[in-house]
Amino acid sequence: MSKQTRNFPLDALVSLAKQRGFIYQGSEIYGGIAGMFDYGPLGTLLKRNIVDAWVNYFVHGREDMFLIDSAILMNKKVWEAAGHVEEFVDPLVDDLKTNKRYRADHLLEDKGIDPSKMTIDQMTQAFVDNKILSPEGNPVGPVRKFNMMLETKVGAMEDSSAISYLRPETAQGIFVNYKNIVDSFAPKLPFGIAQIGKAFRNEITPRDFIFRLRELEQMEIEYFINPNADWLAIFNTLFEEQKKFLESVGVKADSVHAYEHPDEARSHYSKKTLDWEFDYPFGTKELTGIAYRTNYDLTKHAEFSKTKLTYFDLETNEHIVPHVIEPTFGLDRLVLALLVDAYEEQDLGEGNTRTVLHLQKNMAPYLCAVSPLLKNNPEMVEKAQAVYKTLKVATKGRTIWEDNSNIGKRYRRQDEIGTPYCIVVDHQTLEDNTVTVRDRDTMAQERVAIDELKNYIA
Ligand code: GAP
Repeated sequence: MSKQTRNFPLDALVSLAKQRGFIYQGSEIYGGIAGMFDYGPLGTLLKRNIVDAWVNYFVHGREDMFLIDSAILMNKKVWEAAGHVEEFVDPLVDDLKTNKRYRADHLLEDKGIDPSKMTIDQMTQAFVDNKILSPEGNPVGPVRKFNMMLETKVGAMEDSSAISYLRPETAQGIFVNYKNIVDSFAPKLPFGIAQIGKAFRNEITPRDFIFRLRELEQMEIEYFINPNADWLAIFNTLFEEQKKFLESVGVKADSVHAYEHPDEARSHYSKKTLDWEFDYPFGTKELTGIAYRTNYDLTKHAEFSKTKLTYFDLETNEHIVPHVIEPTFGLDRLVLALLVDAYEEQDLGEGNTRTVLHLQKNMAPYLCAVSPLLKNNPEMVEKAQAVYKTLKVATKGRTIWEDNSNIGKRYRRQDEIGTPYCIVVDHQTLEDNTVTVRDRDTMAQERVAIDELKNYIA
C-alpha cells in the first residue's frame, strides 16, 4: 500500500530530470502522450551504464548465460499459447458518466482497501459496499477484465490474420528461441537465456513518472533447470543475486524490501513470485521480480507450435521439459530507483542549498567535467582543452567540457547531473601543471598533477 517514503516530492526529481536532460515527457510539444517518456542525452547515458553493468553481472560474469535480442513483433499464436490473450488482464471500472476507465485495484487501494487477494466479483462488491465513486465523483460500473496487450497489424491484409501484438514482456522471445539455443550451443542444464528490450502494455492508468509506463524496457532472464533440481534453492539464490546486482549499481540496501505475492495475485504462469520492492517517493512498490514459471511456457509452446521443446538429459537418457526460474528487472524503474536514492537537497547553511545526485561513479553519465577558470584567458583554455581531450580518451568519452557562467554555477550544474569530479585549470596550472579536482560528494578540493589525473580518476 502506498505511503510517502521520501522527504522530497517526486515533482522535484521530475523537474530536475527534465531541466538537466535526463527524461522528457514523450511528444511534449503536442501535449504529450500518457505513459510514454523520452530519455534525453544524460538519461540515455545512465540507462546504458545500467545495461552494461547488468550484462557484465549476469552474462559476462557467469558461464551459463546466453544473451539474445529477439523481434518485438511475434506470431500472434505466441500470445495465445503463452496465455496472454486470455490472462494478461487488469481489473478496471468505467465511470458511468464520463466513460473514463480506471484501475479498480488502484481505486480500492486509494480507499485503504487491499485488493490483492480479491476476485473480480469481490472487487465489484467492495465498490458497492464502500460506496466508492470514480475520481470524478460519479458512480462506476462492475469491475471487468481489460487486456493490456497493444494490438497492431502486420502486412497489407486488413483481416484478423494480420493482427499481432507489441510484446508485453521480453520473456516470450526467449521461450520461442529455446530450441535454437539448444541446437546451436548444446548447453548443459542449468543455463539461462537473457534479453534486454522494449515491452508494451496498455496500462489503464500510467502514473508516477517512469514507474508505470506503456512503453517500457525490461532486462529478463529465463533460467532453465532440471525438473528434479532443487528449484527453491536456485530461486532463492537468484533472488539474492538480484539484490546484489541492485546494490552493485548503487541502490541502497535499506531502500529495498522482499515481498511475496499471495497465491491469488500471481501471474497465470507462476507457482511462486517474489519482488524486490523499493521505497519510491510515492510509496513502496515493485522494482524487480522473480517467478517460478515451471514448465508452463515450454509445454504450451510445444503444444501450440507442434514442435518438440524437450531437452535430452545425457545422465538419465531421458527427454525432459526443463523448468524455468525467471528473474526480471524493469530498466526504467531501476533508472528511477537510482535517481531517487542518489537525489539530495543539501542545506549548506546561510541560506545556501545545493541539489546533488550522488550517483555511483560507474553509473554517472559523466565521470568528470573539465573547466578553464577564466574562459577569456586563451592560455588557460588551451591547457584545459588539452586536459579535456586526454581525459575524454581515458574515460572512454565520459568527460564533459564545462565553461558556462561562473565556477560556482558550473559546480552546481555538475552536482545536479551527478558528475563525481570537476577539474579546473587555473592560474597555478600555468605555473606548475597541477589542477584543482573538486569532489562532488564532499565538495573538497585537491591539487593533482595533470600527469596523475588519469590514475586519480580511475
Ligand atoms: N516476464 C515477466 C514479467 O514481465 P512483470 O512483473 O509483469 O513480469 C517485470 O514485469 C518487470 O517489468 C517489473 O518488475 C517492473 O520492473 C517492470 N514493469 C512492469 N510493468 C511496468 C510498467 N507498466 N512500467 C514500467 N515498468 C514496468
